[in-house]
Amino acid sequence: MPANQTSVVQPQKIYLADYTPPTYLVEHVDLTFRLAPKNTRVLARIRFVPNPAATSRDFFLHGELLTLINASIDGTPVTPTLVEGGLSCDVPDAPFTWESEVEIAPIENTALDGLYMSDGMYCTQCEAEGFRRITYYPDRPDVMAPFTVRIESDLPVLLSNGNPADRGADFAVWHDPWPKPSYLFALVAGNLVAKRGSFDTMSGKHVDLAVWTRPADAAKADFAVGALQRAMKWDEDVYGREYDLDVFNIVAVSDFNSGAMENKGLNIFNTAAVLASPDTATDLDYERVEGVIAHEYFHNWTGNRITCRDWFQLSLKEGLTVFRDQQFTGDLHGHATKRIRDVIKLRARQFREDNGPLAHNVRPESFVEISNFYTGTIYEKGAEVIRMLRTLVGPEAYAKALDLYFARHDGQAATIEDWLQVFVDATGRDLTQFKRWYSQAGTPRVAVTEDYTDGTLTLTLRQTTPPTPGQTDKQPLVIPVAVGLLNPNGDEVVPTTVLELTGAEQTFTFSGLASRPVASVLRGFSAPVILQREQSAEELAFLMAHDTDSFVRWDSGRALACQVLVSMVRDHAAPLPAYLDAIAATLADETLDPALRAFVLDLPSEESTAQTLFDLGATPEPDAIHDAHEALKNHLAEHMVTLLPQVYAACQINEAYTPDAAQAGKRALANAVLNLISRNDGGATAEMQFTASNNMTLSLGALHSLLDVGQGRAELAAFAQRWADDRLVIDKWFSLQVSLAAPRRLLAVLTDLTGLESFDWKNPNRFRAVFGAITSNPAGFHQADGSVYRLMADWLIRLDSANPWTASRLSAAFDGWRRYDKARQGLMRAQIERIAKTPAISREMAEMVGRMLG
Ligand code: ARG
Ligand code: ZN
Repeated sequence: MPANQTSVVQPQKIYLADYTPPTYLVEHVDLTFRLAPKNTRVLARIRFVPNPAATSRDFFLHGELLTLINASIDGTPVTPTLVEGGLSCDVPDAPFTWESEVEIAPIENTALDGLYMSDGMYCTQCEAEGFRRITYYPDRPDVMAPFTVRIESDLPVLLSNGNPADRGADFAVWHDPWPKPSYLFALVAGNLVAKRGSFDTMSGKHVDLAVWTRPADAAKADFAVGALQRAMKWDEDVYGREYDLDVFNIVAVSDFNSGAMENKGLNIFNTAAVLASPDTATDLDYERVEGVIAHEYFHNWTGNRITCRDWFQLSLKEGLTVFRDQQFTGDLHGHATKRIRDVIKLRARQFREDNGPLAHNVRPESFVEISNFYTGTIYEKGAEVIRMLRTLVGPEAYAKALDLYFARHDGQAATIEDWLQVFVDATGRDLTQFKRWYSQAGTPRVAVTEDYTDGTLTLTLRQTTPPTPGQTDKQPLVIPVAVGLLNPNGDEVVPTTVLELTGAEQTFTFSGLASRPVASVLRGFSAPVILQREQSAEELAFLMAHDTDSFVRWDSGRALACQVLVSMVRDHAAPLPAYLDAIAATLADETLDPALRAFVLDLPSEESTAQTLFDLGATPEPDAIHDAHEALKNHLAEHMVTLLPQVYAACQINEAYTPDAAQAGKRALANAVLNLISRNDGGATAEMQFTASNNMTLSLGALHSLLDVGQGRAELAAFAQRWADDRLVIDKWFSLQVSLAAPRRLLAVLTDLTGLESFDWKNPNRFRAVFGAITSNPAGFHQADGSVYRLMADWLIRLDSANPWTASRLSAAFDGWRRYDKARQGLMRAQIERIAKTPAISREMAEMVGRMLG
């Protein structure tokens, strides 16, 4: 592209409606890798057969950044036509063997997509379209084949998918008998050590497990082995799913774009999502590590044995697998806290996306780059849709439908239609309207009004979904609204009942009531909607104290905090005494799980207050919101000045550290309370906690509280020195300083941090630690002079030239630009346009900025 080009090139979109079956299928793939950093040779022998279901005999193989050395068909050399994105060739209308040799340069692969190098080891990431950077191939998920892989290298550990088949001094051969799409291919070669374990499956098959790390990280892999065993057992017990190879390998890699990848029999993980030790990982890290290990393991059935026909169906595997990992973590550590955590994440990530220019369907109908669709909508909203389905049909029918899904589609590349059909067949239920959850973007608003007369409560529910890009007309959805009724004395008079809202407006009645009840609505967050309900502070405080549903108890506190914050920002009002009292009462209630009490102190984020204000028709003012949040914390600290130290003392732990829910709950509460105590004692207690702590949860909690009250310089320095050799801990050090910087200091903090030698910007974890943390400091990001916008855009452009995947993902920080005042809108828009007009911007980034401007 000429350097003076200024117009924004709109890359080409592909459409779900244009799907056509592959013209040739693959019977078997043989690959040989001669590994070398600058010139790896990849030899492929692929047996193709005509697909009877195809509509043409055109032969096209995907390929990118490959140097073709030679190619032949049935042993006769051929000269294929090389075109952008691949090659075409004249081929027989009958089975044939394709052979090719290509050269690639893993050391130059900074995109971390395909075969690349990290810490001197070779590794791969092929989902979604990385395999085409390894060899010419029909790189689409509906082409499934068994693979045999030979790796030639003198590195000590050589791994690929499936079972080990042969090993020599400088080679290894792996065979994967299960037909799989190319995106599940993986290869690892390096100087690695294994933490080993084993698992005997329900039918008595012995499986060797190993978690591979760099030698220095060996001690941090024990937890992962146990987590994998728990996941394997749970999937047998709850879903009847058994593992299907002799070995299961996990490899920890420092340079990785996402969390982890479910490659058949050889999962590759970001070190951040697999390594854990008490002194370096927080309780939340432990829960995440176990959850991601489970997630990737569960993909073996929901993703690998049954895969996606095309990438529009991505949520078929991701939504379902997220739902399964949520169930798993809930079963192991308690559903109440897991649900609250998941809802916080959904609202922060997915609701935000759904309310802005990046909103899209759970099953998109078009895209430029599928890599831009590994989103909160595909993952978390996709999981919510499955949760609703289970709520509507009930757990027994859900289990029956899943059995049918596994039986009917094993070995296939399936669609959302296939998925819904097993529910239709197992239950006889018509899911035509329910299916709109997959084809309609946007977060539904459900307005609730109530009327009580003569012993009858009438609830009126009204649903609307605001327009989203390219979708103005919204149809009513099937929304399960779980409701319970409480007596004024706090007893439950009507237990949880699921109301099915299908029309735009519907009424539901409860009769025979002795007195006017308090309705508890959307129990367990039964649908991914925004509830619009006028509730008095007294009623919310009542639900906080008495509801039997722990989600509504917590969410009522959130709703009340939201009201308080909005009136503080808009009317400069003092916080309601009723709110302060309700928080204090909850905190003092020793019958309540400490983890749940900790959540009550977790205020809505500044970002969510901005969204609330915007929804109310106001223009959010980031500094005013930040000041209100600070003021509210100070009020809470003052109001509970004697209670806080008592609660803090009661959650000290004397036993040795374990990451289990009981201890983690106490530490969460200690850290939450410490944050308020620090506002009263200037950080004295936090300094003591920092010095005394022997685990990362309490160290980081103390550091957080210190930075929050403008202290902690010495502690930050000590922390950096102690953990200088631990990249994952130093990532936390970077993050904390960005998210907790005083808004006016953020630019200086970013300039300092990005100037450090340890700011290794090509490492995705390090880049994210800095630029991913900006969104949790909105008052800093939205500096009125636009300086932080500019710095962020500079770095996105820089990263995009090396690693489009991670750069493109982080560009979403700008997605809320239209919510702000005209001056900020102009400043943000200018930066988004500057990115768009940068010569040689990636297709990924071009699509993102195009949609944001769109
Ligand atoms: N399938 C993976 C997971 O959900 C995510 C892959 C993301 N893609 C990537 N290029 N890293 O577990
Ligand atoms: Zn996944």
